[in-house]
This record gives sequence, structure tokens and C-alpha cells, in this order.
Amino acid sequence: MKAVVRPVRRIAGTITVPGDKSVSHRAALLGALADGLTEVQGFLEGEDCLATLRAVAALGAEVARKGPGHFVIQGAGQEGFTEPGDVVDCGNSGTMARLLLGVLAGQPFATVLTGDESLRRRPMDRVMEPLTRMGARVVGRRGGARLPLAIIGARPLHPIRHVSPVASAQVKSAVLLAGLSASGPVSVVEPVRSRDHTERMLTAFGGDVRVDGETVTVVPGRRLVGRLCRVPGDISSAAFFLVAGAVAPDGAVTVRGVGVNPTRTGALDVLEAMGARVDVLAREGDGEPIADLRVGPGPLRGVEVGGTLVPRAIDEMPILAVAAACAEGPTVVRDAAELRVKESDRIRAIASELGKMGVAIEERPDGFRVAGRSAGTSAPFRGARVSSWGDHRLAMALVVAGLLADGPTLVEGIDCIATSYPDFVATCRALAGEDAVEVVA
Ligand code: S3P
Repeated sequence: MKAVVRPVRRIAGTITVPGDKSVSHRAALLGALADGLTEVQGFLEGEDCLATLRAVAALGAEVARKGPGHFVIQGAGQEGFTEPGDVVDCGNSGTMARLLLGVLAGQPFATVLTGDESLRRRPMDRVMEPLTRMGARVVGRRGGARLPLAIIGARPLHPIRHVSPVASAQVKSAVLLAGLSASGPVSVVEPVRSRDHTERMLTAFGGDVRVDGETVTVVPGRRLVGRLCRVPGDISSAAFFLVAGAVAPDGAVTVRGVGVNPTRTGALDVLEAMGARVDVLAREGDGEPIADLRVGPGPLRGVEVGGTLVPRAIDEMPILAVAAACAEGPTVVRDAAELRVKESDRIRAIASELGKMGVAIEERPDGFRVAGRSAGTSAPFRGARVSSWGDHRLAMALVVAGLLADGPTLVEGIDCIATSYPDFVATCRALAGEDAVEVVA
């Protein structure tokens, strides 16, 4: 499917966004590992997280849908998982594949995992290396470094201290989840702290998790107990409309009930550094901080993004590149080589597609440089025919760019948006007008 996007002057309104993808995956996995019932409200019913629910059902948990985003999971308990009768398909989701491998490392049976074309290209060695050191066995393409692969778990696993070369919440979470089945404490040391939902949620489910700077340790032995999980709105989905509200000539966007865990709010820091006014109205959260966020139009200036900010904004880089194209002066993103192993090579993909829209953007090994808006141009983007590269976040970023272009834009391959934000087009129309985005076959 394709989207025909027409330029608008005004982007305005109050919206909510679907549940957080990272928290939804974890709620499904921890609910399955726990004893008793877990009720999940606000679960993201995108393809990625629904695949995780199917996987835990295939492993022996009982999953019932009570209403939109509302699920009840009868946990199998850590020793109650059973060998699935078929290959587990992780679809497009690196989070699902890597976190599930962590869970399966402690399950003494064979499971075969696969995924779509994008996921089968992504590196799994970063989790397989620590998990095999803990005692799991893996057979797969390129020595287990790529899906499809088979994992045969063991119990108990060996305790390890894993020093991760990358700041990756997926690696950290996989090792911590495996650590639940270890014979002693398991630690992960990160170069920079990545999102900490696993630490927070494991603790809430009754696990023993200790955090000391960049080191996180799980001490096995405590049973996990099912609970109520209220999933906050996904700041990574909100970011598309916060940027739209900041760069459109007229209007303002309010997003209600967004998760503002400090390990996730890098995009807000970047927007503020660019000169956007972001109002953050804190609300009562439940394990994760929540806020209503409001952004209105105003001039932006280019900024430097690097270091500890990068993992806190890693999924927002495509839409921040759109903001950078609207800013005055250059924006440089560095220390972000991880973007090359996301759903697409996001550095190459962003540079290629925004380049087609007339943006002066230069690809760098670990990021990109956007020259910024040239004075006197009527619009920051040229209407063009662009492609999503099958990457949901690139597709959504290009639709937002299209709303600000000087003519119609055709975004090809928008089906992938369903992995994380099935209502994205409807929300675009609510904020920018019914005619702004048209979906065509
Ligand atoms: C995620 C971690 C990040 C992020 C992904 C979700 C998670 O990936 O990009 O969208 O839920 O743990 P990495 O761990 O590869 O950095």
C-alpha cells in the first residue's frame, strides 16, 4: 500500500497514542513467566506485540482478549512452559526475538524462531554469545547469528557478568530474563544505560533486581507473581506528532497519557534543545511515569546529538531527522551506528529518502548531518516519490515530512506501519484534515 500525502498548513488537536511497544512485549513475556493472572490494559495491538502474545500462548500460557488493548494472561510459571509444536514467527520484531531467546535459554526444550526478511538480516549473536556462555545451545544460520535458529535451553543456567559492547535494552533484557533461571546472580554492564522497562517490570512482578550505575543484576530465586499492568502511551509513536506540531506553520498538538520514563525521553530533550516549546504535564503513573505533552509551532535551530542522549532517542532518529530538516543551521547525529541494524539500515534509508525530498543530508558511519532549512524556501521538503524500505518508523517519518512539502508526496510501502501504530493514518487525518493522507493500493 501507498500513502498520498498532501501538504497542510495547520496540524492541531489532542490525541492519545497506542500503548508502549517495549512495555507491551514485556507485559506478555512476564505475564507468561509469572504464576497466576496478569491483566494488561493498554496493550499495543500492533503486529509485533500480537506476535509475542501468540508465542507465549504457544509456550503454554493462556491468553484471553477482553476488549481493545485489554488482555488477561494466565501465566505458565517459570517451570510450566512447554515445547511449542511449530516454529515461532517473530515477524518484524527484534525485541520479541531477543527477549524470547532470553526466556527460552532457561527452558530445557527446543524452540525454532524465525522472522520476516528484515528480522532475518538482523544480528542475533549479541544475545546468543552471552546466552550460550550461560549454557543454552543454539543452532542456526551463521553459527546462530541470524534467524531462523533453534535454541535448546538448560536449567539451571550459569551465572555470568556480561559486559555488553552496545547499549541495547534487548541484550540487557535477554540476559536478565535468562538470569531468572540461573544458579546465581547474573549481571549486565552497559556502556550507556538503555531503556529500563525490564528492570522496573521485573521488580514489580516480584523479581530481585539491583541497579548500580550502568550495571544491572538479577538475583534468581524469587517467584514472579501475576499483576495488573497499565501500559502507558508510546513516546516513540507520540514523537511523530510532537515533531509535526513543532514544525507545522500553524496549530499545536497535545498527546495525552504518554510514558515519560527518563530512559526514553531523549526526543523531548532534542526538541527542546532545538528551541521547541514542549509542555510536560505530569500525571499519576503506575511503575512508569506518565505525562500529557504539548508542542506548538516555532522556529527550530540545528543541534548536536551524541553520547548518552543517543540510546534515549534511538527509535526517534527518523522523525528527528525530519525536525532537523526544518531547523535553521546544521544538525549532526553521532554515536548512533546502532541505527544501521534496526528494521532497516536507518542511516542509509533516512539519507536516501529525505534526499529525494530535497533535504541536504549526508550519511556518516555513525549517524548523519542535516544541513538545515535554507533561508527563503517556501517549504522544508519537496514533494516526491519515496519508499519506506519496509521500516515502520521511516514510513511514518516520511508521511510527516509529506505534510510539510511543497506538493504531494507518495510514500510507498506503508503496510509496515501496522507493526507499531495501526491507527497512524487515522490520527494524521484527525490532526491535519481528512484529505491530508490518502491510502491507495
Ligand atoms: C527495545 C530496545 C531498542 C529499541 C527497540 C525496542 C526494547 O533496541 O530500538 O525498538 O524494547 O528493548 P536495541 O536493544 O537493539 O537498542
